[in-house]
Amino acid sequence: MSEIIQQPLLEVKDLKQHFNINMGAFKTKPLKAVDGVSFTINKGETLGLVGESGCGKTTVGRTILHLYKPTSGEIWYNGKKIETKQDIMEFRKKATMVFQDPYSSLNPRMTVADIIGEPLDVHKLYATKEERQARILELMSHVGLNSEHAARYAHEFSGGQRQRIGIARALAVNPDFIVCDEPVSALDVSIQAQVINMFDELQEKLGLTYLFIAHDLLVVRHISDRIAVMYLGKMVELADAATIYERPLHPYSKSLLSAVPVPDPKIARANQRIMLEGDIPSPLNAPSGCPFRTRCPYATEQCAAEMPAFKEVEKGHFVACHRVAEVN
Ligand SMILES: Nc1ncnc2c1ncn2[C@@H]1O[C@H](COP(=O)(O)OP(=O)(O)O)[C@@H](O)[C@H]1O
Ligand code: SF4
Ligand SMILES: [Mg+2]
Repeated sequence: MSEIIQQPLLEVKDLKQHFNINMGAFKTKPLKAVDGVSFTINKGETLGLVGESGCGKTTVGRTILHLYKPTSGEIWYNGKKIETKQDIMEFRKKATMVFQDPYSSLNPRMTVADIIGEPLDVHKLYATKEERQARILELMSHVGLNSEHAARYAHEFSGGQRQRIGIARALAVNPDFIVCDEPVSALDVSIQAQVINMFDELQEKLGLTYLFIAHDLLVVRHISDRIAVMYLGKMVELADAATIYERPLHPYSKSLLSAVPVPDPKIARANQRIMLEGDIPSPLNAPSGCPFRTRCPYATEQCAAEMPAFKEVEKGHFVACHRVAEVN
Protein backbone atom coordinates (compact mmCIF):
# COMPACT_ATOMS: atom_id res chain seq x y z
CA MET A 1 0.00 0.00 0.00
CA SER A 2 1.44 3.35 -0.97
CA GLU A 3 0.30 6.82 -0.18
CA ILE A 4 -3.28 7.34 -1.31
CA ILE A 5 -4.33 10.68 -2.68
CA GLN A 6 -8.04 11.23 -2.05
CA GLN A 7 -8.76 12.00 -5.63
CA PRO A 8 -10.31 9.47 -7.99
CA LEU A 9 -8.06 8.22 -10.76
CA LEU A 10 -10.68 5.86 -12.17
CA GLU A 11 -14.47 6.18 -11.92
CA VAL A 12 -16.70 3.39 -13.19
CA LYS A 13 -20.39 4.33 -13.42
CA ASP A 14 -23.12 1.72 -13.91
CA LEU A 15 -20.94 -0.36 -16.23
CA LYS A 16 -22.62 -3.16 -18.18
CA GLN A 17 -21.13 -5.78 -20.44
CA HIS A 18 -23.71 -8.02 -22.07
CA PHE A 19 -22.42 -10.62 -24.53
CA ASN A 20 -24.82 -11.81 -27.20
CA ILE A 21 -24.86 -15.58 -27.08
CA ASN A 22 -26.03 -17.51 -30.12
CA MET A 23 -28.84 -19.82 -29.03
CA GLY A 24 -29.36 -21.41 -32.47
CA ALA A 25 -32.23 -20.84 -34.90
CA PHE A 26 -31.04 -17.25 -35.39
CA LYS A 27 -31.80 -16.45 -31.76
CA THR A 28 -29.43 -14.68 -29.40
CA LYS A 29 -29.65 -14.11 -25.69
CA PRO A 30 -27.70 -11.53 -23.67
CA LEU A 31 -25.24 -12.99 -21.18
CA LYS A 32 -25.01 -10.29 -18.53
CA ALA A 33 -21.37 -10.80 -17.53
CA VAL A 34 -21.26 -7.37 -15.86
CA ASP A 35 -24.57 -5.81 -14.98
CA GLY A 36 -24.43 -2.33 -13.51
CA VAL A 37 -21.19 -2.02 -11.56
CA SER A 38 -20.01 1.30 -10.07
CA PHE A 39 -16.87 2.14 -8.11
CA THR A 40 -13.96 4.56 -7.93
CA ILE A 41 -10.26 3.98 -7.35
CA ASN A 42 -8.20 6.80 -5.87
CA LYS A 43 -4.68 7.67 -6.95
CA GLY A 44 -2.17 5.30 -5.39
CA GLU A 45 -4.91 3.00 -4.11
CA THR A 46 -5.41 -0.74 -4.60
CA LEU A 47 -8.98 -1.91 -4.97
CA GLY A 48 -9.26 -5.68 -4.56
CA LEU A 49 -12.03 -7.30 -6.66
CA VAL A 50 -13.08 -10.74 -5.49
CA GLY A 51 -15.72 -13.35 -6.26
CA GLU A 52 -16.04 -16.90 -7.53
CA SER A 53 -14.92 -17.87 -10.99
CA GLY A 54 -17.41 -16.67 -13.62
CA CYS A 55 -18.79 -13.72 -11.63
CA GLY A 56 -17.46 -11.17 -14.13
CA LYS A 57 -14.16 -9.95 -12.67
CA THR A 58 -12.06 -10.33 -15.82
CA THR A 59 -14.83 -8.78 -17.90
CA VAL A 60 -14.84 -5.72 -15.60
CA GLY A 61 -11.06 -5.37 -16.08
CA ARG A 62 -11.16 -5.86 -19.85
CA THR A 63 -14.11 -3.52 -20.31
CA ILE A 64 -12.45 -0.78 -18.27
CA LEU A 65 -9.45 -1.01 -20.57
CA HIS A 66 -11.81 -0.97 -23.59
CA LEU A 67 -10.59 -4.35 -24.79
CA TYR A 68 -14.37 -4.84 -24.96
CA LYS A 69 -16.67 -1.98 -25.84
CA PRO A 70 -18.96 -1.37 -22.85
CA THR A 71 -22.62 -2.22 -23.48
CA SER A 72 -23.45 0.84 -21.39
CA GLY A 73 -22.11 2.90 -18.54
CA GLU A 74 -19.26 5.35 -18.21
CA ILE A 75 -15.57 5.17 -17.45
CA TRP A 76 -13.80 8.31 -16.29
CA TYR A 77 -10.05 8.67 -15.97
CA ASN A 78 -8.39 11.59 -14.20
CA GLY A 79 -11.66 13.49 -14.19
CA LYS A 80 -12.33 13.00 -17.90
CA LYS A 81 -14.88 10.71 -19.50
CA ILE A 82 -13.40 8.25 -21.99
CA GLU A 83 -15.48 8.62 -25.13
CA THR A 84 -13.64 9.04 -28.40
CA LYS A 85 -11.11 6.75 -30.13
CA GLN A 86 -8.50 9.35 -29.28
CA ASP A 87 -9.48 9.15 -25.55
CA ILE A 88 -9.12 5.36 -25.68
CA MET A 89 -5.68 5.60 -27.29
CA GLU A 90 -4.50 8.11 -24.70
CA PHE A 91 -5.93 5.99 -21.88
CA ARG A 92 -4.17 2.85 -23.13
CA LYS A 93 -0.83 4.60 -22.72
CA LYS A 94 -1.60 5.10 -19.05
CA ALA A 95 -3.51 1.92 -18.23
CA THR A 96 -2.58 -1.69 -18.79
CA MET A 97 -3.20 -5.24 -17.64
CA VAL A 98 -1.26 -8.14 -16.14
CA PHE A 99 -2.85 -11.45 -17.07
CA GLN A 100 -3.78 -14.46 -15.04
CA ASP A 101 -1.86 -17.17 -16.80
CA PRO A 102 1.85 -16.53 -17.27
CA TYR A 103 2.07 -19.73 -19.32
CA SER A 104 -0.25 -18.69 -22.12
CA SER A 105 0.01 -14.90 -22.07
CA LEU A 106 3.65 -14.75 -23.22
CA ASN A 107 4.81 -15.95 -26.63
CA PRO A 108 7.21 -18.80 -25.79
CA ARG A 109 9.19 -18.24 -28.99
CA MET A 110 10.07 -14.64 -28.17
CA THR A 111 13.05 -13.64 -26.09
CA VAL A 112 12.49 -11.81 -22.82
CA ALA A 113 13.98 -8.65 -24.35
CA ASP A 114 11.55 -8.78 -27.27
CA ILE A 115 8.53 -9.48 -25.09
CA ILE A 116 9.32 -6.47 -22.91
CA GLY A 117 10.43 -4.38 -25.90
CA GLU A 118 7.25 -4.95 -27.93
CA PRO A 119 5.12 -2.29 -26.19
CA LEU A 120 8.09 0.11 -26.47
CA ASP A 121 8.04 -0.52 -30.23
CA VAL A 122 4.26 -0.25 -30.54
CA HIS A 123 4.13 3.07 -28.71
CA LYS A 124 7.48 4.31 -30.13
CA LEU A 125 8.89 4.99 -26.70
CA TYR A 126 12.59 5.34 -27.60
CA ALA A 127 14.81 7.27 -29.98
CA THR A 128 17.74 4.90 -30.42
CA LYS A 129 18.45 1.17 -30.16
CA GLU A 130 20.68 1.82 -27.16
CA GLU A 131 17.86 3.66 -25.42
CA ARG A 132 15.51 0.75 -26.11
CA GLN A 133 17.99 -1.75 -24.68
CA ALA A 134 18.65 0.39 -21.60
CA ARG A 135 14.91 0.71 -20.93
CA ILE A 136 14.43 -3.07 -21.26
CA LEU A 137 17.18 -3.68 -18.73
CA GLU A 138 15.71 -1.10 -16.38
CA LEU A 139 12.29 -2.77 -16.59
CA MET A 140 13.88 -6.16 -15.94
CA SER A 141 15.63 -4.84 -12.86
CA HIS A 142 12.30 -3.43 -11.55
CA VAL A 143 10.96 -6.98 -11.40
CA GLY A 144 14.12 -8.69 -10.15
CA LEU A 145 15.37 -10.17 -13.43
CA ASN A 146 18.98 -9.66 -14.46
CA SER A 147 20.54 -8.82 -17.80
CA GLU A 148 21.53 -12.44 -18.49
CA HIS A 149 17.85 -13.28 -18.79
CA ALA A 150 17.31 -10.89 -21.70
CA ALA A 151 18.28 -13.23 -24.53
CA ARG A 152 16.47 -16.27 -23.15
CA TYR A 153 13.05 -17.49 -24.23
CA ALA A 154 9.89 -17.27 -22.12
CA HIS A 155 9.44 -21.06 -22.10
CA GLU A 156 12.74 -21.45 -20.25
CA PHE A 157 11.34 -19.76 -17.15
CA SER A 158 9.29 -20.91 -14.16
CA GLY A 159 5.77 -19.59 -13.60
CA GLY A 160 6.87 -16.98 -11.07
CA GLN A 161 9.58 -15.68 -13.37
CA ARG A 162 7.21 -15.61 -16.32
CA GLN A 163 4.85 -13.51 -14.30
CA ARG A 164 7.75 -11.13 -13.59
CA ILE A 165 8.36 -10.88 -17.34
CA GLY A 166 4.64 -10.14 -17.84
CA ILE A 167 4.79 -7.41 -15.21
CA ALA A 168 7.92 -5.85 -16.78
CA ARG A 169 6.06 -5.83 -20.10
CA ALA A 170 3.06 -4.13 -18.50
CA LEU A 171 5.37 -1.50 -16.97
CA ALA A 172 6.97 -0.71 -20.34
CA VAL A 173 4.42 1.97 -21.23
CA ASN A 174 5.06 3.66 -17.88
CA PRO A 175 1.47 3.21 -16.74
CA ASP A 176 -0.32 4.90 -13.85
CA PHE A 177 -3.00 2.24 -13.58
CA ILE A 178 -2.77 -1.56 -13.85
CA VAL A 179 -5.53 -4.16 -13.87
CA CYS A 180 -3.89 -7.16 -12.19
CA ASP A 181 -6.10 -10.09 -13.25
CA GLU A 182 -5.45 -12.92 -10.79
CA PRO A 183 -1.70 -12.50 -11.33
CA VAL A 184 -0.77 -15.12 -8.75
CA SER A 185 -3.61 -17.66 -9.09
CA ALA A 186 -1.65 -19.91 -11.43
CA LEU A 187 1.50 -19.81 -9.28
CA ASP A 188 2.65 -22.14 -6.53
CA VAL A 189 1.47 -20.98 -3.12
CA SER A 190 5.11 -20.77 -2.04
CA ILE A 191 5.86 -18.00 -4.55
CA GLN A 192 2.53 -16.17 -4.49
CA ALA A 193 3.59 -14.00 -1.53
CA GLN A 194 6.85 -13.01 -3.28
CA VAL A 195 5.02 -11.83 -6.37
CA ILE A 196 2.40 -9.95 -4.32
CA ASN A 197 5.17 -8.24 -2.36
CA MET A 198 6.71 -7.24 -5.65
CA PHE A 199 3.44 -5.62 -6.74
CA ASP A 200 3.41 -3.76 -3.43
CA GLU A 201 6.99 -2.51 -3.84
CA LEU A 202 6.40 -1.47 -7.44
CA GLN A 203 3.33 0.48 -6.38
CA GLU A 204 5.37 2.36 -3.82
CA LYS A 205 8.30 2.99 -6.17
CA LEU A 206 6.33 3.95 -9.27
CA GLY A 207 3.20 5.48 -7.72
CA LEU A 208 0.88 2.93 -9.33
CA THR A 209 -2.84 2.45 -8.82
CA TYR A 210 -4.22 -1.11 -9.03
CA LEU A 211 -7.44 -2.95 -9.63
CA PHE A 212 -6.31 -6.26 -8.14
CA ILE A 213 -8.53 -9.21 -9.07
CA ALA A 214 -8.58 -12.52 -7.17
CA HIS A 215 -11.08 -15.27 -6.44
CA ASP A 216 -9.55 -15.73 -3.01
CA LEU A 217 -9.99 -13.12 -0.27
CA LEU A 218 -6.73 -14.08 1.41
CA VAL A 219 -4.70 -13.16 -1.66
CA VAL A 220 -6.00 -9.58 -1.80
CA ARG A 221 -6.16 -8.93 1.91
CA HIS A 222 -2.71 -7.45 2.40
CA ILE A 223 -2.33 -5.61 -0.85
CA SER A 224 -5.81 -4.01 -0.94
CA ASP A 225 -6.87 -0.74 0.64
CA ARG A 226 -10.51 -1.48 -0.14
CA ILE A 227 -12.20 -4.64 -1.36
CA ALA A 228 -15.20 -5.08 -3.65
CA VAL A 229 -17.09 -8.37 -3.77
CA MET A 230 -18.90 -9.43 -6.95
CA TYR A 231 -21.56 -12.04 -7.54
CA LEU A 232 -23.12 -12.86 -10.92
CA GLY A 233 -22.13 -9.63 -12.63
CA LYS A 234 -23.15 -7.39 -9.74
CA MET A 235 -21.29 -5.80 -6.88
CA VAL A 236 -22.68 -6.99 -3.54
CA GLU A 237 -20.33 -5.32 -1.05
CA LEU A 238 -17.56 -2.72 -0.98
CA ALA A 239 -15.61 -1.48 2.06
CA ASP A 240 -12.15 -1.03 3.57
CA ALA A 241 -10.11 -4.23 3.37
CA ALA A 242 -10.04 -4.59 7.17
CA THR A 243 -13.81 -4.09 7.42
CA ILE A 244 -14.59 -6.70 4.75
CA TYR A 245 -12.33 -9.09 6.55
CA GLU A 246 -13.45 -8.45 10.11
CA ARG A 247 -17.08 -7.46 9.70
CA PRO A 248 -18.51 -8.42 6.33
CA LEU A 249 -22.23 -7.58 6.11
CA HIS A 250 -23.41 -9.36 2.94
CA PRO A 251 -24.24 -13.08 3.30
CA TYR A 252 -22.13 -13.86 0.23
CA SER A 253 -19.05 -12.06 1.60
CA LYS A 254 -19.57 -13.92 4.89
CA SER A 255 -19.64 -17.21 3.03
CA LEU A 256 -16.45 -16.38 1.13
CA LEU A 257 -14.78 -15.64 4.45
CA SER A 258 -16.07 -18.83 6.01
CA ALA A 259 -13.83 -20.69 3.59
CA VAL A 260 -10.79 -18.73 4.79
CA PRO A 261 -8.95 -19.68 7.97
CA VAL A 262 -9.11 -16.73 10.38
CA PRO A 263 -6.30 -16.71 12.97
CA ASP A 264 -8.10 -14.43 15.45
CA PRO A 265 -10.80 -16.42 17.33
CA LYS A 266 -12.74 -13.25 18.21
CA ILE A 267 -13.11 -12.37 14.56
CA ALA A 268 -13.87 -15.97 13.70
CA ARG A 269 -16.77 -15.99 16.21
CA ALA A 270 -18.11 -12.62 15.04
CA ASN A 271 -18.38 -13.91 11.47
CA GLN A 272 -21.04 -16.59 11.67
CA ARG A 273 -19.92 -19.33 9.34
CA ILE A 274 -22.02 -19.63 6.21
CA MET A 275 -21.21 -22.55 3.98
CA LEU A 276 -21.98 -22.05 0.33
CA GLU A 277 -24.19 -24.68 -1.18
CA GLY A 278 -24.57 -25.41 -4.85
CA ASP A 279 -22.88 -23.75 -7.79
CA ILE A 280 -23.04 -20.20 -8.98
CA PRO A 281 -25.98 -20.02 -11.47
CA SER A 282 -25.25 -19.28 -15.12
CA PRO A 283 -25.48 -15.58 -15.95
CA LEU A 284 -27.63 -16.71 -18.90
CA ASN A 285 -30.26 -17.83 -16.38
CA ALA A 286 -29.70 -15.45 -13.49
CA PRO A 287 -32.30 -15.62 -10.69
CA SER A 288 -34.88 -12.84 -10.42
CA GLY A 289 -34.40 -10.28 -7.66
CA CYS A 290 -31.24 -10.73 -5.62
CA PRO A 291 -28.71 -12.75 -7.65
CA PHE A 292 -27.56 -14.59 -4.49
CA ARG A 293 -31.00 -15.71 -3.35
CA THR A 294 -30.74 -19.30 -4.67
CA ARG A 295 -27.84 -19.90 -2.29
CA CYS A 296 -28.66 -17.51 0.54
CA PRO A 297 -29.86 -18.98 3.84
CA TYR A 298 -31.72 -15.71 4.62
CA ALA A 299 -33.67 -15.40 1.37
CA THR A 300 -37.34 -14.33 1.56
CA GLU A 301 -40.04 -13.64 -1.02
CA GLN A 302 -38.90 -10.05 -1.27
CA CYS A 303 -35.45 -11.29 -2.32
CA ALA A 304 -37.00 -13.12 -5.28
CA ALA A 305 -39.13 -10.16 -6.28
CA GLU A 306 -36.77 -7.21 -6.01
CA MET A 307 -33.15 -6.55 -6.76
CA PRO A 308 -31.64 -4.97 -3.61
CA ALA A 309 -30.05 -1.54 -4.13
CA PHE A 310 -26.33 -1.09 -3.52
CA LYS A 311 -26.57 1.18 -0.47
CA GLU A 312 -24.06 2.94 1.76
CA VAL A 313 -24.91 1.50 5.20
CA GLU A 314 -21.98 3.07 7.03
CA LYS A 315 -19.49 5.61 5.77
CA GLY A 316 -17.69 4.02 2.83
CA HIS A 317 -19.36 0.63 3.37
CA PHE A 318 -21.77 -0.37 0.59
CA VAL A 319 -23.99 -3.47 0.62
CA ALA A 320 -26.70 -4.83 -1.68
CA CYS A 321 -28.98 -6.87 0.62
CA HIS A 322 -32.61 -6.37 1.64
CA ARG A 323 -32.00 -7.94 5.02
CA VAL A 324 -28.64 -6.45 5.95
CA ALA A 325 -30.01 -5.23 9.30
CA GLU A 326 -31.54 -8.61 10.27
CA VAL A 327 -28.67 -10.88 9.22
CA ASN A 328 -26.00 -8.93 11.11
N1 LIG B 1 -16.02 -12.99 -24.67
C1 LIG B 1 -17.05 -13.57 -24.04
N2 LIG B 1 -18.14 -13.98 -24.72
C2 LIG B 1 -19.19 -14.56 -24.08
N3 LIG B 1 -19.23 -14.77 -22.76
C3 LIG B 1 -18.17 -14.41 -22.02
C4 LIG B 1 -17.02 -13.78 -22.62
N4 LIG B 1 -16.12 -13.53 -21.63
C5 LIG B 1 -16.67 -13.97 -20.47
N5 LIG B 1 -17.90 -14.49 -20.71
C6 LIG B 1 -18.82 -15.02 -19.69
O1 LIG B 1 -19.06 -13.98 -18.78
C7 LIG B 1 -19.12 -14.45 -17.44
C8 LIG B 1 -18.07 -13.76 -16.60
O2 LIG B 1 -16.78 -14.19 -17.02
P1 LIG B 1 -15.42 -13.61 -16.45
O3 LIG B 1 -15.47 -12.13 -16.53
O4 LIG B 1 -14.32 -14.30 -17.14
O5 LIG B 1 -15.51 -14.05 -14.92
P2 LIG B 1 -14.34 -14.21 -13.82
O6 LIG B 1 -13.15 -13.47 -14.32
O7 LIG B 1 -14.93 -13.64 -12.58
O8 LIG B 1 -14.08 -15.67 -13.69
C9 LIG B 1 -18.94 -15.96 -17.53
O9 LIG B 1 -20.22 -16.55 -17.57
C10 LIG B 1 -18.23 -16.14 -18.86
O10 LIG B 1 -18.54 -17.40 -19.41
S1 SF4 C 1 -31.19 -9.76 -0.51
FE1 SF4 C 1 -32.05 -11.62 0.36
S2 SF4 C 1 -31.20 -13.28 -0.87
FE2 SF4 C 1 -29.99 -11.47 -1.27
S3 SF4 C 1 -28.31 -11.63 0.14
FE3 SF4 C 1 -29.84 -10.39 1.18
S4 SF4 C 1 -31.08 -11.85 2.35
FE4 SF4 C 1 -29.86 -13.04 0.88
MG1 LIG D 1 -11.20 -14.11 -14.59
